[in-house]
Amino acid sequence: MKSAVVVEPNKVEIQNIDIPKTGDNEVLIKVKTVGVCGSDLHLFHGTHAFRNPPAILGHEIAGEIVEVGEGVTKFKVGDRVTVEPHIGCGECEYCKKDLLNLCTGKKAPGTPGWIGTFSEYFNAPEQTVYKLEDNVPYEIGTLIEPLAVGIHAISRIAVQERDTIAILGSGTIGLLTLVAAREAGFKNIICTDTQQFNLDMAEKQGATLVLNPIKDNIEEKVKEFTNGRGVDVAIVAADAPVIVDQASSIVRKRGEVGIVAMITEQIPVNTYNFVFNEINLFGAMTYETKDFAKAAELVNNGLDLSDFITQRLPLEESQEALDILSKKKENVVKVLVEVEK
Ligand SMILES: NC(=O)c1ccc[n+]([C@@H]2O[C@H](COP(=O)([O-])OP(=O)(O)OC[C@H]3O[C@@H](n4cnc5c(N)ncnc54)[C@H](O)[C@@H]3O)[C@@H](O)[C@H]2O)c1
Ligand SMILES: [Zn+2]
Ligand SMILES: [Zn+2]
Repeated sequence: MKSAVVVEPNKVEIQNIDIPKTGDNEVLIKVKTVGVCGSDLHLFHGTHAFRNPPAILGHEIAGEIVEVGEGVTKFKVGDRVTVEPHIGCGECEYCKKDLLNLCTGKKAPGTPGWIGTFSEYFNAPEQTVYKLEDNVPYEIGTLIEPLAVGIHAISRIAVQERDTIAILGSGTIGLLTLVAAREAGFKNIICTDTQQFNLDMAEKQGATLVLNPIKDNIEEKVKEFTNGRGVDVAIVAADAPVIVDQASSIVRKRGEVGIVAMITEQIPVNTYNFVFNEINLFGAMTYETKDFAKAAELVNNGLDLSDFITQRLPLEESQEALDILSKKKENVVKVLVEVEK
């Protein structure tokens, strides 16, 4: 079968590899659509924390089951599905608390022992598989994974007030965090981005106020909007040197700053804001199974995410798909690769 492999930094090749064997407790999926994610860019550029070239791209997927292992009980051939793409070691402190996202021995697609989803077929253990309702297109099913990231980020918020949230960065993750904030009942949602296209998208998805840090003084505008108080929580969903300071400057006293962006370079942070205003800082790493289940439920209940899909390319053009997201060559939110139309 064909797979898209990052053979060395910035180089993708379509290679012929063996179809993975379906284990006893696994299903084999004929892949329909896969998503390009920021972490695929890290693999592509050779800056990922644990995915290193050569490796097959991808962890966002939707497709149809074509084979089930002997031990599989919940699925059958023909089921339309998506996959929660991580497997915990099952033994560690975090796995025992259902925090697979924090397991240091976890397996993920594109790491040794599991192929990546940019492949014609993909194998997955039954417990990681979720059914898609008949009315959910495969491409929307592919967005359940990044939606789970947004849901998890919102689930990490401890403050009780749901008055105003700011989301800094309105790419796929920022926008899906906006969707999750909307679902969680935040009354006012402020979104920022440097691209007008993304700001328009945020507005369309229910942002109350959109701001561009290139043109707007974010601190001033947010303070104005909140009558000087500041937001209850700010989520950092973009990678920029000033962004954590920006977040802490707009949060109210005893509010929270959450970081979902993977900022791989060290950036300077003004700690004084955190102390002076007693602001709590948290990180949000992928999702817990409950977040993924919630994302699947929302999509299966008809949550419409179709606006977020801005480009569709065939598997052969995987490198171009990565370039579009990486260089922002076009107006872009989510780039999908259609492995099989
Ligand atoms: N924590 C996790 O589990 C997890 C999961 C997926 C992605 N991520 C990370 O989240 C971040 C966002 O991912 P994405 O897929 O949405 O990426 P993306 O590139 O699609 O979105 C980033 C957005 O930020 C905007 N931006 C750039 N500079 C900005 C600034 N100074 N202020 C406001 N906006 C700015 C860009 O225009 C873009 O729209 C990345 O760092 C990614 O690695 C984290
Ligand atoms: Zn992803
Ligand atoms: Zn573990």
